[in-house]
Amino acid sequence: IAFQYAAARNVNIIPEIDMPGHSLSALAAYPEYSCTGGPFKVLELWGIQSDIFCAGNEKTYTFIEDILDELITLFPSQVIHIGGDEAHKDRWKVCPKCKAKMVAENLKDVNELQSYFIHRLSTYLGSKGRRMLGWDEIMDGGTIPDATIMAWRSVDKGIEAVKAGYNVIMSPTSNCYFNFYQGQPDDEPESFRAFLPLEQVYAFSPIPEGCTEEEKKRILGAQANLWTEYIDSPDAANYMLFPRLCALAEVVWTADS
Ligand code: ACM
Ligand code: ZN
Repeated sequence: IAFQYAAARNVNIIPEIDMPGHSLSALAAYPEYSCTGGPFKVLELWGIQSDIFCAGNEKTYTFIEDILDELITLFPSQVIHIGGDEAHKDRWKVCPKCKAKMVAENLKDVNELQSYFIHRLSTYLGSKGRRMLGWDEIMDGGTIPDATIMAWRSVDKGIEAVKAGYNVIMSPTSNCYFNFYQGQPDDEPESFRAFLPLEQVYAFSPIPEGCTEEEKKRILGAQANLWTEYIDSPDAANYMLFPRLCALAEVVWTADS
């Protein structure tokens, strides 16, 4: 099994299942956990969708907890990534169940509802002896005790998180998104339309200026992302990963000089 192979080499595989957004494939099969009831089709293209898990329906929580139970049986990782990014909340604003939940829980807006949703899952993971990891949006709308933040929107989001007391993994688009072009687009396989050359990975400083010694200790490391919308083979993945992954490894495994 993959995680055992990894563990023998001191690598911990952290699984991620994204929620409440980026969940249309789950809702296509289980539309009853959406706000509108569907029906939905699994996307044939990528993008951010308005239909997300309904945070006002108690059955949504049971459904997700069942999935987390299965996930933690499969993966021994102490830390479980629940996503939390790019959740449009238009449906929550008009959904009777979501509106009723906001009244019942005294939540002033949909950001606080997202925080309520994430907090419940974090408490659930805690009850199973695991801890939550999530993209930096999980800070919006309230604090999630014990969560680790993966800062992707910017280095500043990572700084904001360490200053708020979170442990942080830096993964900013500015230096860690290997789905972006690494050379002139005309000479490269078609990729996400943004540019991240090797030099910019080398220039990355995962522990930014302006943090105290205590805050610096809460920056656990960095992660590269290779989102695979444009990747159609292992060769294509390797092409995008290397040599930038070597550069990132050098940056995060070498002491500051
Ligand atoms: C992300 O790239 N949406 C984490
Ligand atoms: Zn709803």
